[in-house]
Amino acid sequence: MPSSLPRTSLIPRPTKARIKPGHFTFDADTRLRITDGAEPAADLLRTLLAPATGLPLTPAADGPVVLALDTALTGLGNEGYGLTIGPHSLLLRARDVTGLLRGVQTIRQLLPAESLAASPQPGVRWTVPCADITDIPRLPWRGAMLDVARHFQPLSYLLRYVDLLALHKMNVFHLHLTDDQGWRMPVSAYPKLTEIGGRRRQSSIGPNGDRYDGTPHSGAYTRAELARLVDHAAARGISVMPEIEMPGHVRAALAAYPHLGNQPERTLDVWTRWGVCETTFGVHEEVFDFCRTVLEEVMDVFPSPYLHIGGDECPTTEWEQSPAARTRARIEGLRNPAALHGWFLDRIGTFLTRQGRRPVGWAETGTELPDGFTVMAWRDPAHALNAARRGHDVINSYYRATYLDYPQSADPDEPPGQPGGVVGLRDVHGHDPLPETAPPRTATHVLGTQAHLWTEYAATPARIEYLTYPRLCALADGGWSGPSTWTDFSSRMEGHTARLDVLKVNRHP
Ligand code: ACM
Repeated sequence: MPSSLPRTSLIPRPTKARIKPGHFTFDADTRLRITDGAEPAADLLRTLLAPATGLPLTPAADGPVVLALDTALTGLGNEGYGLTIGPHSLLLRARDVTGLLRGVQTIRQLLPAESLAASPQPGVRWTVPCADITDIPRLPWRGAMLDVARHFQPLSYLLRYVDLLALHKMNVFHLHLTDDQGWRMPVSAYPKLTEIGGRRRQSSIGPNGDRYDGTPHSGAYTRAELARLVDHAAARGISVMPEIEMPGHVRAALAAYPHLGNQPERTLDVWTRWGVCETTFGVHEEVFDFCRTVLEEVMDVFPSPYLHIGGDECPTTEWEQSPAARTRARIEGLRNPAALHGWFLDRIGTFLTRQGRRPVGWAETGTELPDGFTVMAWRDPAHALNAARRGHDVINSYYRATYLDYPQSADPDEPPGQPGGVVGLRDVHGHDPLPETAPPRTATHVLGTQAHLWTEYAATPARIEYLTYPRLCALADGGWSGPSTWTDFSSRMEGHTARLDVLKVNRHP
């Protein structure tokens, strides 16, 4: 590329991009031509550019900026787009409106970084370089999980979190709403889930449970807030996938409704420790009634085709010790009480499938989840392909490349994170969620990859962003664009860092 051409530093990298001499300038008179169905993309472009640029982007039949839907562009799939920029026109085309929403994010990245600012930026010329871009994601699932159970975050922060995902062309926001330490989603039939399960007395400092902060922690969303999150994300082409944990990681639910446990007379607190808790749901019919009622309300709020029901880190000790659970296992023809885990998930998975949804679960071996589950394989890099070979759709979630709760370096000044490892930017960048060695029939089951942020050690938005950026940029780049050299990625990150800084992202240096 001749050096006179402007440098672009797009994250993720487009499939094909030719930057050409010249530029197109947006100004107060720039009009938008919008074809039928493309209005959501025009709304998003205006909404995102307004704070910094004040551009009205008024609609007009002869506008030089065209946002066009064209169903004949089948090769672009549902997220791809084409962008042609000349000195006097800008044409963004896609088959589906989601593709236009992705293209809007590219336009933002082609503009000066100041266009991302939250306040007016007088004196900046709003130019984009002339270019021909065709851009289609490599993988259909590029997600990020945020755990709001360990530390609750207000809706205002979730909206910002989604905005940052959208900038990186991510398409799934996985919201981890329940765990041993807190239940954050209101369920009208079970008000104590948030009244009691949404509050814990204090929190462990560090992993051992030998020191506590003495500070109560609480929080729950309203239904209206969750609906607003879903709408905000949809306007950015992002689906919000809720996670309701079962049959383990349910201590907060058991604190609210002890009769759902294996010892109905026992009173439990919302857990104040971190780690794996021994308590699990019982396997009596009331538990399934509860799960179905909760999930019905979840389905009312979240239109996501995928619903995550956890399934991870579920000790089977309580079932082994419970006469009722042992009897249940025998009646169901299971080989032992431990097999109640798969049986439990299968019942709930079947219920969700009948409602037209797809169950998702965490996999610890890649082979333990019932048929029909989409699998998040997190423990071992081989597990994703093991599950895909069995016919599961898979989200590659290998913890040493996608768990952003681990510190980014071994530097002693690094703030405390999940103990037991370091996940550096290079680890995330170097991880290919779809290994080249995967046979084609297996590869089609690897839907994509996802970043995960458990928040035992991240209580505030500032800490969440410190752990998330820039590592999420690498994950988004790999998921959308496929592998890149470190030199290419890091040189694009230099330009992209200016954007994160304008957005006041509290990124890791
Ligand atoms: C997990 O990390 N427990 C899924």
